[in-house]
Amino acid sequence: MESLKWTGSSLKVLDQTKLPFKIEYIECMIYEEVASSIKKMQVRGAPAIGAAAAFGIVLAAKQRQFAKISDFQKFLHEATHVLQKTRPTAVNLFWALDRMKSVWSLKNWETVQDIITALEKEAIAIFKEDIELNKAIGKLGMELVPDGATILTHCNAGALATAGFGTALGVIRACHKSGKEIAVYASETRPLLQGARLTVTELMNDGINVTLITDNMAGYLMKQGKVDAVVVGADRIAANGDVANKIGTYSLAVLANYHEIPFYVAAPYSTIDMTLHSGKEIIIEERDPLEVRSISGNPVVADDVPVYNPAFDVTPHSLISAIITDKGVLRPPYEQTLKQVIKEDKNE
Ligand code: MRU
Repeated sequence: MESLKWTGSSLKVLDQTKLPFKIEYIECMIYEEVASSIKKMQVRGAPAIGAAAAFGIVLAAKQRQFAKISDFQKFLHEATHVLQKTRPTAVNLFWALDRMKSVWSLKNWETVQDIITALEKEAIAIFKEDIELNKAIGKLGMELVPDGATILTHCNAGALATAGFGTALGVIRACHKSGKEIAVYASETRPLLQGARLTVTELMNDGINVTLITDNMAGYLMKQGKVDAVVVGADRIAANGDVANKIGTYSLAVLANYHEIPFYVAAPYSTIDMTLHSGKEIIIEERDPLEVRSISGNPVVADDVPVYNPAFDVTPHSLISAIITDKGVLRPPYEQTLKQVIKEDKNE
């Protein structure tokens, strides 16, 4: 199962809202369709959203004819704005759109066709690079996991949430591939059940020992000594190491801290946002109350029940034992170690 397939003239998006029962790809021919599938969470997960948006810009570049380069650039500016408005929390979306903008906004282009060719090359590079970053995260992260360990993960930070291999699940996959005997608990992740529907499916497909729990079971498992480490992904990491990730991550970090269980965050450099000093500045997406009033589309309460539905929370850096990036395993003080990673990336 691949989250995204680029055909050269369209982007095929695996409709993750239908998983695990149906494997259906939606073919996006214009950037507005990509924006809509990000909004509806047919494609979701921070790096996958970023890669989808990058291909969205390529579709925008191909979907209309322009005689003047300035008109073409104006249209790409509009498309960027529409794609930016889809989901606010994962920085990878903005990172990928900025990377595409650094190509199309150059001053010295001679033809529209030259820009289109360069944009397609850049989107493909973002996609391919993400798989390599995840493999590097897996390789570095597996050193933290002892043979025989049981890992708890939340939401889905797997191949489906990325261009491939995954971040948190990349660590788990690398452990499994290296021959380590590991077991995984996947929390179901209400309201949209990414843990139950996506993580469990991915790990079972790979023959990795996974057990599904509901979100409220984690504390009891930890108390019984059944969890050796928690590994999760991230949607945005602030300069001080605070991490936004799927709602429920913070509760797991507090529980892990109380039970003295290491709590690891796995994420590529594209998830680090050095423009934000702390997690307080991260915008937390709030989604439709219907997601909480129902389970998999089936209502569980009356449609006038008041609901609060934040899609993410922020885990303070003090609860994070290490951040596993493609460039190394970072330890506190994150202000310094994150700065070093970003500096290295700029020098490459
Ligand atoms: O709302 P979602 O499903 O897009 O949220 C996904 C997560 O929170 C993931 O943990 C995060 O994006 C990291 S994916 C490698």
